[in-house]
Formats: sequence, C-alpha cells, structure tokens
Amino acid sequence: MPTAAPAGGFTPPIYPYARLDALKTRAADAPGGIVDLSIGTPNDPVPGIVVKALAEAGPGSAGYPRAIGGPVLRGAAAGWMERTFGVVVDPVQVVNCIGTKELVASLPHLLRLRDPSRDTVLYPAVSYPTYAMGAALGGCRAVPVPLDDDWHLDLSAVAEEDAARALLLWLNEPGNPTGSQSAPAPMAAAVEWAGARGVIVASDECYVEFNWDDAGEPVPGATALSVDVDGVLAVHSLSKRSNMAGYRCGFLAGDGDLVAYLGSVRTHAGMMVPGPIQAAAAAAWADDEHVEVQRVRYAERRRYAKSRLGDVGLLDAGGPSSFYLWARSADPAENGWGVTARLAEGGMLVAAGDLYGDGGANHVRIALVQPLERIELAFDRLAVATPRTLATGGSQP
Ligand SMILES: Cc1ncc(COP(=O)(O)O)c(C=O)c1O
Repeated sequence: MPTAAPAGGFTPPIYPYARLDALKTRAADAPGGIVDLSIGTPNDPVPGIVVKALAEAGPGSAGYPRAIGGPVLRGAAAGWMERTFGVVVDPVQVVNCIGTKELVASLPHLLRLRDPSRDTVLYPAVSYPTYAMGAALGGCRAVPVPLDDDWHLDLSAVAEEDAARALLLWLNEPGNPTGSQSAPAPMAAAVEWAGARGVIVASDECYVEFNWDDAGEPVPGATALSVDVDGVLAVHSLSKRSNMAGYRCGFLAGDGDLVAYLGSVRTHAGMMVPGPIQAAAAAAWADDEHVEVQRVRYAERRRYAKSRLGDVGLLDAGGPSSFYLWARSADPAENGWGVTARLAEGGMLVAAGDLYGDGGANHVRIALVQPLERIELAFDRLAVATPRTLATGGSQP
C-alpha cells in the first residue's frame, strides 16, 4: 500500500520533463511524427573509438573498479584539461562520477556533512533543475541568484545573509538553458566573489566545447580552475561532448582537500563507474577529433534554427553558446507554455522555460539534438500554418 510522507517529510515534485508528456502525445500525431527538441539528450553517434574501447575492456573487467576512477581514466581527464584550458591538474585531483547528474544531486549533501555550519546552495536563477534538487536532497536552502542581461550571474543581488550561509555556489557556463557564453571575465568575477566569502564553487562546464561568439564562430571556453584552485571544483561530462549520455561518466577536478574528501566518501558509498565504461571514457577524453565533428553539427543546426525562429513567431532571447536556443514569443501575451503547446500542435516538442526556474516562464528551450533534416521538417511544418492559427493558449500541464 502506498504510504504518504509524514508531515514535513520530503515529497519529490513531478519530474520536470514529465510535465511535457501530454504535449508529447499531441506532437506525435503530426504528419512525419514528433521532432523532439525538448530533452538535451544526444542523438548523434557514439564515437567509434569509444565503442571499440568499451568492447575490448569487457573481458578484463571482472573485478570491482575504483570508485574515483582508475589511473588511465584520471590521467586522460587531466590530459584533456591541459589540452583544452592549459590548466595542469594532477590526476590525483580528479574523481570520476556516474554521469554528473548524480554528482550535482549529491554534492550539497556531501559538502554539508563536511561543514554543517553552512546550509545554503546558490545557483543560477534560470538553470538545470538538479542544482535546486541537490540542495533539497542535502537538506539545504536553495537560493537562486538572479541573472544579468547576458544570462551571467548577478552576484551583487545576493543578500549578505545568504552569502554568509552559503556552502556552495554553482556556475554553469555555457549555460543550460540560456546559452550564456563561457568567458574568462564573468568566471573570474564569480570565483573571486565566492573566494572572498569562503563559499565553495562548483563550476559545471559540461557544454564548454560548444562555445560560440555572437557571430557563431567557435571561441575557447573558460574553466574556473584557471582563476583559482582553492575551494574550486570544475565539473565535466562526456554526455554532451562525446554523445555518451547513455554511458554515464563525468568527473570533478580541483581543490586537493575537497577532491580527496569527495573521493573518499564516494568510495565508501560505492559510487563506481563500471570498468568497461572507464576504458571507453578514457578513450573519449584522449580524443578531440570527434568533438570537432560534433561542434560543426551543432553550429550548423544553431545557425539554421536561429534563422527560422521568426517563421514560427519566436525571437532569439539567449546567449550564443551551448546546443540550446533560448527563445520567446514575438507576442508578449504568449508565455512559454503557450509557445510549447503551439509548437507541439505542429509536431515540434520543446521545453517550456519555467522547467528551469520561474524566471524562464516567458521562454522556451529548443535542444538542437536532432539531425538537421528533422529540424528543417519541424520548422517547415510549423511555418505552413501561421503561428497564430496554431495557437492553443498558455495552459500548463
Ligand atoms: C548543466 C548540466 N549539468 C549536468 C548535466 C548532467 O549530465 P550528465 O549526468 O549526463 O553528465 C546536464 C544534463 O543535461 C546539464 O545540462
């Protein structure tokens, strides 16, 4: 018999993407089928070198893997940090995780155990929902930090009381869902702000290789570890970079004491990346060629989709980076759910912006994870009908 949580107990909210289920069914009825641009899950091929490494590692993987990651994997991750950012990280300052979502969800809990004197998690007000969920799961206060016009953190808006109680500050640039650009100046400002207040920084840099300028030219992204290592963790994932979301592998690197603590607790808890996945992940971190191919794919889709927004009554309202477009209606009366419902009628499923925080309520996120021809089909179908004849209102499931 199901048992409700006792009064004051935690009841998880509906999973954000489950709120799209009804519209997903509507979109599936469109001629040619649904073009699902809602979840940021890769649909492009897993690199061949990765598949090969996975297959070859299987027979030798009878024993338990190291929770923190074996030396080959940690070395490959450190090598990638040096190639990408020019930052030298000792492989002992790297700990692997089973995809970064579990890390994001568990980090406040683990850090709070280490320092019970602080109880607040600061995170971008419009962002990946797991930052706030991790705070809740760790028994912490989740305090959103407002964003400026370029979707970077506006730390001047944080109340001094919240700053004094802050255990952790999340950064995420390039930003999901806003497409904010990863750039050295905002990164440095945030790390310095946190350092001056004794707040640990966790910089989620999982989209860093999909960083463009306003003209759509690729530009190097920044890591928080180039600003400081003390009290700073950089978080990286193979899910987006290498189309390996199904493999579940990422890492954190940075402050030696924090990494050693997290590695130890995670070892006690048995948070292990399976051995064959570690081998596949090491192959992926050691290779940049497949990332270049993926970067070209996303750049092409970004350019195309951006050029079609006006045809479906939308305006580009986000930054230039990541593989998301952050858009809003040209009609100020139409909110994010209104746009999502209207596009779903025409077979394109996008994510309503309030899945990422109340500040996103007037926006939608378009994940450019389908092949270009499917994205073209989605825009063509919608553009045939004028945006207004497709309008179905702004109700929210
Ligand atoms: C900003 C951000 N961080 C972390 C993740 C988690 O990725 P994974 O668990 O696949 O590493 C995602 C996934 O969408 C994300 O958008």
